[in-house]
Amino acid sequence: MIIFLIGYMGCGKSTKAKQLAHRLDCPVVDLDSEIVNKSGKTIAEFFDAFGENGFRNYESEMLKTYNYPENCVVATGGGLPCFFDNMEWMNEKGVTIYLQMDAPQLVSRLHNRQKRPLIKDLDDEQLLEFIRVKLEERNPFYTKAKIIINAFDLDVEKLVEVLKA
Ligand code: S3P
Repeated sequence: MIIFLIGYMGCGKSTKAKQLAHRLDCPVVDLDSEIVNKSGKTIAEFFDAFGENGFRNYESEMLKTYNYPENCVVATGGGLPCFFDNMEWMNEKGVTIYLQMDAPQLVSRLHNRQKRPLIKDLDDEQLLEFIRVKLEERNPFYTKAKIIINAFDLDVEKLVEVLKA
């Protein structure tokens, strides 16, 4: 089974993917890291070189061409479910889990903004407003996930329980 973790920047996709994969004894795939490995550019450099559109094409291509192990946990980039038919594609291939958090919770967790080109120049107040707007835009996509879970203080055992249910 392929498990896709989706949600906004800072909701804990990469960390939870590692913990869940460890718990389920299967490999973890981090699509942002795969983009960095394959392109030889950091995400910030990629945005600078090819713009957001270039990035969206590349990440979507990566999602659909990656050679996934039969069982694995995949951490996706925050915007990935909201472009092309990526959400439908993931729902067809595996189980999608939306790690849901509200805007203030996300702001409180987004300290290292430099590596995230969309928010690198924003202070806390601007970031809160930016995330509120983005979540409205993105929630229609995120909420197509098969499982939606409140991700603040989320214990990995809870995730395992929900997957079994
Ligand atoms: C983005 C999220 C990032 C990365 C890129 C764009 C977004 O991934 O793909 O900076 O549009 O939300 P993380 O959610 O892993 O930070």
